[in-house]
Formats: sequence, structure tokens, C-alpha cells
Amino acid sequence: MRHVVVPEDLSAAEIEAVFAVSRDLQEKFEAGRRDALLPGRVLALVFEKPSLRTRVSFEAAMAHLGGTSLFLGADTGFASSRESIADFGRVLGEYVDAIVCRSNAHATIEQLAAVAGVPVINGLSDQAHPCQALADVYTLRQRVGRVAGLTFAFVGDGNNVARSLAVVCGSLGMRFVLAAPPGYRFDVEFRRHLATILPHAAIEETTDPVAAVKGAAVVYTDVWTSMGQEKERAARLEAFRPYQVNERLMAHCPDALFMHCLPARRGEEVTDGVIDGPQSVVVEEAAARMHVQKGLLAWLLGQAS
Ligand code: CP
Ligand code: NVA
Repeated sequence: MRHVVVPEDLSAAEIEAVFAVSRDLQEKFEAGRRDALLPGRVLALVFEKPSLRTRVSFEAAMAHLGGTSLFLGADTGFASSRESIADFGRVLGEYVDAIVCRSNAHATIEQLAAVAGVPVINGLSDQAHPCQALADVYTLRQRVGRVAGLTFAFVGDGNNVARSLAVVCGSLGMRFVLAAPPGYRFDVEFRRHLATILPHAAIEETTDPVAAVKGAAVVYTDVWTSMGQEKERAARLEAFRPYQVNERLMAHCPDALFMHCLPARRGEEVTDGVIDGPQSVVVEEAAARMHVQKGLLAWLLGQAS
């Protein structure tokens, strides 16, 4: 039994295997076919934070695959004084075949994975967003036909999404560059972790967004204030102002795709002109969430051909 708590839980070969199933299922879906690979299987979605894409793409994926999903919000008492996470996870694992968890603290998902007895997938924590990173790199592969050797520029906060993208890009042989202000780059502990798990990967950091995007295949950004950081909003707005992805910045990389995990704060990290412009693939990326999560579920539950 396998979990996907962080993207490094999957090797490069396993990511490629998931992508292959995803592509097959996407082609069938686009031809109007639904492959019922998971009949009778049940997926629980345990969410502590709001979600559109992650929640709906997993629910739709399970329906298309012939299974069912259960959305469990605050009324189940998860991660509250009602009962321990261990008791919650052990019991939930008796009813369902897999669990997706979106948590405030990353440790909550780790605790769930340790006890549940079924695969646990991270649907976003403060430290990682593996399903997002997989869908983003899958989107690039679908667009360009390859990923190894390409440069992926992330302009903004060294947050959960940036960390997961660095790992997936590094694992698949891409160069990853984070352009962030001092104080918002990857922390020392994560840098050490990257050096250990991906010693040969080209993962770089700079304070210069123009240098980061030159020659990039993708320019990516995300909100400057993630869920749970609302109290830091004023300081973050100030620090990140020079890092807005706007038409001026994109003029340095006219061939790059623009990506954003969404939801976006238009006028802050990205302008309308860029997110609605010809380089933007944000809706395709969001659509890919469902296709890749189908591949991941089929692979994790052992039904991938
Ligand atoms: N990108 C993403 O995870 O979106 P949601 O927060 O809407 O799930
Ligand atoms: N970094 C953002 C991503 C939302 C999908 C957050 O954690 O709020």
C-alpha cells in the first residue's frame, strides 16, 4: 500500500506510469468514454480548508471511474477535540478504499497515512501540493511533448505549490528556478532535503524575476498569501510587489506558457492581461487535475493496466 503525502513519494518512473494511465483515460474521456476502473470503490475527501478544483476534480474522477466519493467537512470533527486523528483515521480506513486530505498542518496528513490502512493522498497542506505539481508538469508534457531539459520558472512565494513543483521538476530532469524576495525562498531544511533526495537536480533560487524567466518554458505564479497566512497579508503584499507576473515580465519569454494553480488574486501576483492572454494555460492545467488524479487513483488502487 502506497501514500502520496509528498511528491517525492513517487519515483520518476512511477510519475511516468501515472501519466501514461492519465493520458489514456484523458483520451477516452475526450472521446466520450468513461473507463470504470474502480467500480464499488469509495474515496473519502477530508478537507480542513476550502477547495474548488481539488474537491470537484477528485469527486468527478471517482464518478467517471465507476466509484463513489464522500466529502467530509468540519461536521465530522476531524482534527478537533472530538477525537484523535489516529482514531478518526483508523475508523475511516475501515470504510473507504482511499483518503484525500487537505489539512492546515502537514503533520496531520502524515498522521493519517500512518494509521489509515488505505492509501492517503495529500490534497494540499502548508508544505506540499503534490497533485497540483503532477498536473502542471503533465500539462507541460501534453503541450510541448517533453519536459526533460526545459526550464520551469516560479515567480513568487516559495510555498507549498513551489516546493512540490521543485521536486517533480527535479525528478523529471527539468531545471527549476524560484524567483522570490529574501525571506520567502525555500527554507534551509527543505534545501537540505532537496540536496539529499535529488542531488543532481538543477534547482536554483534568485531574487531577479527577469533572470528567472529568460529561456523558461513555463512561468508560474501562485498567490502571495496562502490559506492560513492571512495575518501576514500586508507585509507579503509589500515584499512581493516587484514579483508580479505582468506583460512586461512575460515580454522576456514570449514562447513560455503561463501557469497558475488557481485561485488567483488578479491584480496582485498576476495581471488580467497575462492570465487571460495567449500564453496562459490555466484552465487546461485545472482540467488536468482530474485526468492526473484518475491516473493516480487507478495506479494507487492497483487497477492501472
Ligand atoms: N489549485 C487548487 O488546489 O485549487 P482548490 O484550492 O480550489 O482545490
Ligand atoms: N498556495 C495556495 C495554493 C492554493 C491552491 C494555498 O495554500 O492557499
